[in-house]
Amino acid sequence: MSQDQVENLLSEDRTFSPTAEFAAQANIKEAEYALADADRIGFWESKAEYLKWDKRWHTVLDWQVPFSKWFVDGKLNASVNCLDRHIDEGRGDRVAFYFEGEPGDTRTITYAELLKDVKKAANALTEIGIKAGDRVAIYMPMIPEAAVAMLACARVGAAHSVVFGGFSAEALISRINDADARLVITADGGYRKGAAFALKPAVDEALSGEHNVKNVLVVKRTGQEVAWSDRDIWWHEIVDRQPEEHIAESFDSEHPLFILYTSGTTAKPKGIFHTTGGYLTQASYTHRAVFDLKPESDIYWCTADVGWITGHSYVVYGPLINGATQVMYEGTPDTPHKGRMFEIIEKYKVTILYTAPTLIRTWMKWGDEFPNKFNLKSLRLLGSVGEPINPEAWMWYREVIGGNRCPIVDTWWQTETGAIMISPLPGVTATKPGSAMRPLPGISAKVVDDSAHEVGKGHGGYLILDKPWPSMLRGVWGEPERYKETYWSKYEGIYFAGDGAKLDSDGAYWLLGRVDDVMNVSGHRISTTEVESALVSHEEVAEAAVVGANDATTGQAIVAFVILRGGIDHTKGEALISALKAHVVKEIGAIARPRQILVVNELPKTRSGKIMRRLLRDVAENRAVGDSTTLADPNVMNLIKDGLATATED
Ligand code: WT7
Repeated sequence: MSQDQVENLLSEDRTFSPTAEFAAQANIKEAEYALADADRIGFWESKAEYLKWDKRWHTVLDWQVPFSKWFVDGKLNASVNCLDRHIDEGRGDRVAFYFEGEPGDTRTITYAELLKDVKKAANALTEIGIKAGDRVAIYMPMIPEAAVAMLACARVGAAHSVVFGGFSAEALISRINDADARLVITADGGYRKGAAFALKPAVDEALSGEHNVKNVLVVKRTGQEVAWSDRDIWWHEIVDRQPEEHIAESFDSEHPLFILYTSGTTAKPKGIFHTTGGYLTQASYTHRAVFDLKPESDIYWCTADVGWITGHSYVVYGPLINGATQVMYEGTPDTPHKGRMFEIIEKYKVTILYTAPTLIRTWMKWGDEFPNKFNLKSLRLLGSVGEPINPEAWMWYREVIGGNRCPIVDTWWQTETGAIMISPLPGVTATKPGSAMRPLPGISAKVVDDSAHEVGKGHGGYLILDKPWPSMLRGVWGEPERYKETYWSKYEGIYFAGDGAKLDSDGAYWLLGRVDDVMNVSGHRISTTEVESALVSHEEVAEAAVVGANDATTGQAIVAFVILRGGIDHTKGEALISALKAHVVKEIGAIARPRQILVVNELPKTRSGKIMRRLLRDVAENRAVGDSTTLADPNVMNLIKDGLATATED
């Protein structure tokens, strides 16, 4: 029996090399890896040079495990790097954002206009009494003011804590209090699924108890009725009358830029905090390298909400530092129709699209007719983030969205890592469907066993980062012990990411999901990701989620929940289930044969698209379903349980 911590079961031999034309024009060439290997610190120093510093650092890295300082003693302002420098260098007329509201309203905002808005907002923050070192909670829909609010905080040196607008009042107040925020920036509401939703009532509810919030700044987005109290200030009333000048102060490279809470499913959320110089260095470098950004000609669209780290690093800081022109969309992919996002790609001639596997699989499920109705030929590069992307979804993305011409970058990283860590370089790497391929230049990631030995090609284990990187988290806000315990206690001096991974026979990295999700079937450690990928590779399956359920014989047995592709006859029942089981056996082997396959219409997901396997385990083990308050759709567990009458077992 294999000794691997996670077994290597699926194999994939398709590879896709960049075309000669793409490779020739790419920002980053093969030599970059050797350059970084030869002098990792010097490599990152050269990337920091790209930023505008008001005072140069004297030491690149001060590393007192597990606490790092990058570009020590350097001084800079994040918002100046995102905005002023473009205006100073003559790029003020370039469009920063093409905003598309869900109801169809649009705004085009140039860098000069964005800077003016940020300066006025910064002046308003100062008038309200916000100072460098304060914390500000931001609870907003996906509208330009969300980015303006973040940049205005950065400009005055207040750390922002963006709380995703889909979170509850309870989630909001726990984050407000954990960070001891003194201001909340919100909106009356936003648009989602064809209707206005409210945000302000959740803020009012959150603030009904104990806290140190002095004011609430409210952007008028929908015009709906809102309750009002003395601490509330309309954004337009205070921001619009501010002077258009604002001289930004320089802050230390290690000045906190933001806190972002990871949505822990059970434990108290962790306030991951990031600082300025190192974070901006890696966010901007990776954005140029991985997305091959050509700021004069590309139209870049990252579909993430600013409430997630992806929205911080690849909507706000990375792209703006690089002078990108972006699309920002407020709403949902199926409003008013399932082709909405493809329509936006066609309308703005988007060239670079960065999205999540959950959306890609949703598009697959809806069917090719929606993307096929629109002209997607402007696209030249596609990205994926957030979860392992199954080979089947990767191929669909490549063929149907990318017209077989666009390189795909599957980017692995975390809220904690701040920026992309493992990814192909689009002009260099021959990609394999489903693999994030290899650590970026300057990054050291390894796959190891329990004693921190590298597992070697063809084996699976734990993914670790054994050298500090510029955009690494600086800690858990207010909880240094928790920081050490969570990330640095499994291995001495080594960051453990919590993910399983395997190296294939060529040494390419395959992410296998959280190690907590690994199943143990008759002593074989099988990754949920691999069984899910095998299921999704069956032509009738659009999405799959797999869990290990207690089993008297095998310890755990594999239970799969599948969603069928749009238009497929749902009455095939037994025959289809048997076919799916046989398919998994063919793809992976008999050890991975699911004990049970349940056909469902929905899967329980968080609002960031991560499957809540804990809840599916409850169903698989016939227990009452646990806390499901962080689900995007709270009703989905009922739908799943109701549909289970058709479940089969053998
Ligand atoms: C976890 C981090 C990074 C921004 C969005 C998520 C999973 C993320 C990939 C990928 C396989 C991935 C990991 C990771 N993950 N990207 N390309 N392939 N898994 O940020 O909420 O902090 O989640 O998402 O499990 O640890 P996050």
